[in-house]
Amino acid sequence: MPEIICFEVTNRCNLDCLHCNKVINTQPVRDIPVQLVDRILEESKPFNPRVVALTGGEPTVHKEFARLVATVAQHDIDYTLTTNGQNFRETHKVLVRHAERLKGITLSLEGATPWSNDKVRGSGSFERVLDAMELCRRHGIQFGLQTVVSTANIDELGAITALAAAQGADQLNFILMRPSPRNIQEGLLLDREAAEAVEQRVADLKQSITNIKVDMTLGYYSPWPLFACRPLGLALIHVDYKGYLRFCPDVANYRGAGVTEDDNDVVADLNEQSLQRGLKALAQRVAVFWQNKIDHTAMNDLAPTDYFPCYYCLRYFNKADCMDL
Ligand SMILES: C[S@@+](CC[C@H](N)C(=O)[O-])C[C@H]1O[C@@H](n2cnc3c(N)ncnc32)[C@H](O)[C@@H]1O
Ligand code: SF4
Repeated sequence: MPEIICFEVTNRCNLDCLHCNKVINTQPVRDIPVQLVDRILEESKPFNPRVVALTGGEPTVHKEFARLVATVAQHDIDYTLTTNGQNFRETHKVLVRHAERLKGITLSLEGATPWSNDKVRGSGSFERVLDAMELCRRHGIQFGLQTVVSTANIDELGAITALAAAQGADQLNFILMRPSPRNIQEGLLLDREAAEAVEQRVADLKQSITNIKVDMTLGYYSPWPLFACRPLGLALIHVDYKGYLRFCPDVANYRGAGVTEDDNDVVADLNEQSLQRGLKALAQRVAVFWQNKIDHTAMNDLAPTDYFPCYYCLRYFNKADCMDL
């Protein structure tokens, strides 16, 4: 523990996707200081982390992206990047310079056609992400794709899989869209039955498609209330652009969280505290979380959507107050 250290390196973004659940481009816009990343990685060494995951916002618009990647690569640890691929003509040069520890990148794509993708990610984004894939192939950068499943693309999962395989992606990851006031208003959120059907559809694709690894990120229906995802097992920790250690990447800086200071999932300020202290605080917060969930479960106090673990956490951290989930 922690196996994965996830850095949400900025709250800036060069897109404004309709489905996005991250608070982006709000003032003050901030990038995580590179020296803080350096210090955290130094302190993480006894815990033997396997990989550093860079995300955002859009991580490649971090003002010192090149220095950030160089710093991560200096530590003897693999790293990955999740990006919208929109400025990949520039950023791939940085990755090529630090290719030894790069474990591949994830490009986000929401549809199999410019029409369906750009409806969610904005005009021209499909062409640019295809160009990013071409650059990856040319420079030997291993890449996978990630698709957030919503009403906009639920009928395209097979076509997206075929496209990913044809483009040379080594894997395709589907995620159920987490709600935000905007994506609900846009009619993108799947109802519970449709969300459960996606799981079956992805399982079928996994069986029938052999030329690409198809997967689905946790967050889907689970009949076991005490089901443990990576953050709850302390296998993944998340540091945001303010330098805060957070409970989970998927509830951090949540768009439309309905609280003024979206900080009730903040565990420690790593600008002020060591990683060791932060991890101890996290272990305590996770223990309290489990006690609470055991009580709710024993009292039959779970709503049907609580069996989607991320929904339960959104409610637990009061991030779903303004959404009728
Ligand atoms: C927050 S983005 C940050 C990295 C980069 N900007 C990108 O879009 O790839 C990381 C991933 O979260 C996904 N994501 C955004 N909103 C989401 C939501 N409401 N539910 C689930 N995943 C979401 C994005 O599509 C992307 O694949
Ligand atoms: S999903 Fe990524 S690219 Fe789209 S708005 Fe959110 S952070 Fe930006």
